Amino acid sequence: MTSSADPARIPRHIAIVMDGNGRWAKLRHRPRTFGHNAGRKAVRDVVEGCLRQGVKVLTLFAFSSENWQRPQEEVGALMELFLRALDKEVDELHSNEVRLRFVGDLSAFDNGMRQRMTAAMARTAGNDALHLNVAMNYGGRWDIVQAARKAAESVARGELRAEEIDEALLGHWMSLADLPPLDLFIRTGGECRVSNFLLWQLAYAELHFTDTLWPDFDQACLRSAIEDYARRERRFGRTGEQVAQR
Ligand code: IPE
Ligand code: IPE
Ligand code: MG
Repeated sequence: MTSSADPARIPRHIAIVMDGNGRWAKLRHRPRTFGHNAGRKAVRDVVEGCLRQGVKVLTLFAFSSENWQRPQEEVGALMELFLRALDKEVDELHSNEVRLRFVGDLSAFDNGMRQRMTAAMARTAGNDALHLNVAMNYGGRWDIVQAARKAAESVARGELRAEEIDEALLGHWMSLADLPPLDLFIRTGGECRVSNFLLWQLAYAELHFTDTLWPDFDQACLRSAIEDYARRERRFGRTGEQVAQR
């Protein structure tokens, strides 16, 4: 029996930086967008893997607030890919009882795209097998700023005193606050950095970096990341002895 078979060792919430599409395409002498398209299959596979293994929440970094700096052509191709995926994948996600949510500053997207995102979220809102969050125009610093702004507005309205703002209160305004805390962060593509993903939520997540390029990531890779996680001892500041006693 592998350690990941123990339900207590299955991460409830996994976040993934899906990196390496461009390099995957380059290895095949194809344009970068070919790699982005190939990444769709990996998304499907990982969603299926999460459903099978009983992971409750999957948060995918699809487009960062910094990715607008890429060549216009690539940004355009990515937006088209998102729209196509939205049109094609939502039926299946819905039939698998997946709840889809977009996180990030969605105001940057045009009306058509926003409407389709809203419709997909509304359609799947009652599902509970897996919560799939897709981070779009997301930045961890943006997330902290928008939470701080909400706190400031609440103070300005006289509903809250500044000294009442603590970690729990601010955390309540961060994206994904209503979901189980992040357990496992995975980054494909070999880079060992966070790239402004879930900064606040990462505080005590376990980190797993793999050289596998995103289009090659599959259920077996997910399983080995979960097995890696299952071997970790999460101490949250305590000693190993204290953890063993609990
Ligand atoms: C990740 O793959 C996809 C997005 C950022 C949208 P990359 O496009 O960053 O691939 P590499 O890192 O250049 O290989
Ligand atoms: C992070 O990947 C963003 C997504 C995967 C959406 P990048 O490829 O943009 O990150 P950097 O630029 O290498 O840090
Ligand atoms: Mg990259």
